[in-house]
Amino acid sequence: MFITALDLGSSTIKGVIAQQRKDGSVVFVKTIKKESKGIKRGDIQYPNETVKALSDVLNEIRHFEKKALKNLVIGLSSTKTGFHLSRAAVSIPRPDFEIIQEDVERVLQESTAVNIPPGWQILHSLPREFVIDGIEVDDTDVVGLSGKKLEVNVVLITAFSSVYKNFLKVSQLLFGKKAGLAGTLVFTPLASERAVLTKNQRELGVAMVDIGFGTTSIVVYQDGRMLLSKVLPIGAGNITNDIAIGLKCSVSVAEKIKRSYGCAYARDISVKEKIDLSEYDENLSSNISRRYVAEIIEARVREIFSLVDAELKGIAKAGKLPAGAVLVGGGARLSGIVDIARDELRFPAQVGFPNTEEYETSHGSVADNLDAPEMVGACGLIFTKTDTTSKHRPSIFPSQQKEEYGSWIKKIFAIVKASE
Ligand SMILES: Nc1ncnc2c1ncn2[C@@H]1O[C@H](COP(=O)(O)OP(=O)(O)OP(=O)(O)O)[C@@H](O)[C@H]1O
Ligand SMILES: [Mg+2]
Repeated sequence: MFITALDLGSSTIKGVIAQQRKDGSVVFVKTIKKESKGIKRGDIQYPNETVKALSDVLNEIRHFEKKALKNLVIGLSSTKTGFHLSRAAVSIPRPDFEIIQEDVERVLQESTAVNIPPGWQILHSLPREFVIDGIEVDDTDVVGLSGKKLEVNVVLITAFSSVYKNFLKVSQLLFGKKAGLAGTLVFTPLASERAVLTKNQRELGVAMVDIGFGTTSIVVYQDGRMLLSKVLPIGAGNITNDIAIGLKCSVSVAEKIKRSYGCAYARDISVKEKIDLSEYDENLSSNISRRYVAEIIEARVREIFSLVDAELKGIAKAGKLPAGAVLVGGGARLSGIVDIARDELRFPAQVGFPNTEEYETSHGSVADNLDAPEMVGACGLIFTKTDTTSKHRPSIFPSQQKEEYGSWIKKIFAIVKASE
């Protein structure tokens, strides 16, 4: 069986195709990177543009392996998403008090019956822990245990109606007329954290910070529990824009300068170092101070981490996560970024790469392409489909709840069914 993950970013669509063998083992067989269109700050704003960009990607996939189109997982990290905690309880009605799957389904169902503001819908429901007769159970698989009362604490990720409306529009345009396509929508930060954080980090306390083009997503864990997920409307694209303004050059030249000479820790750059901008555009100066560019970058990177710190303050975890920050996304490639993260967040920081050691890759080039901080989201989207056995990592779409994710998901399934 093939699985295709597409992380729809504000600047690039990152794709991974994996093949799962009958014995459950997974081989990564292809990576894709294409410019995205119509997506602003993680939201599909112009569905027609997004469809154009996605059509190219789907053609590349079709060319590679038709069957890979049958099982798509599509990730979005929209700023118009919310994080809520919910709790529910049910009594076990049988004389032997043994918990069966149906009880788990009932309590999970109850936990989604909360007051969500109008215009918002539940995108994901993640069981965080189960409590049986007041005793917390260190396992998300409670079937077979016994008790009179089963409680559950869940994390609900909600999305504003425009998010799924536009996703649905893209799905209809893409899948409506073509046969054999199937897709589900996942909130990318939940997928990313699966691919980059370890169980030990989640226990100690850790913040994954994904610095993309238009957004910075945060997922925080401690004691093995998710404490927060948040998408901030600022990203590494803001750094490029600042350079373009500061140097009075085009955004495309600013992007090249950032990648080739950029450093977020200005003190590391000698005041004597110069950059020759005339190599990009003959009308530009040949004598720009690299330290000045670094100062522009540092100011924006500090702002990004001060916003992350403010979110951590909101949950009383600022400076208090022993496993520190794991930086991912294309923005994490910027030299010196780890130093600024440590400075602003007051705990350790490191750049994160997808944890793919347990998986095979079909070619060396696939392994090389995967080994990048911006590929964490697409790898994680694959894991949401393949890693359903781990008891400590609840499935993003618990199978028993598939039909409960709101009418929009049903509509997508309906479209898929109609096209098969
Ligand atoms: N080598 C590099 N040095 C500095 N910045 C880089 C480098 N490579 C990529 N970036 C930056 O990473 C950003 C893109 O990252 P990424 O692909 O993770 O974003 P995205 O997923 O498209 O956006 P978002 O997650 O916000 O929707 C761009 O702003 C780009 O400038
Ligand atoms: Mg991204």
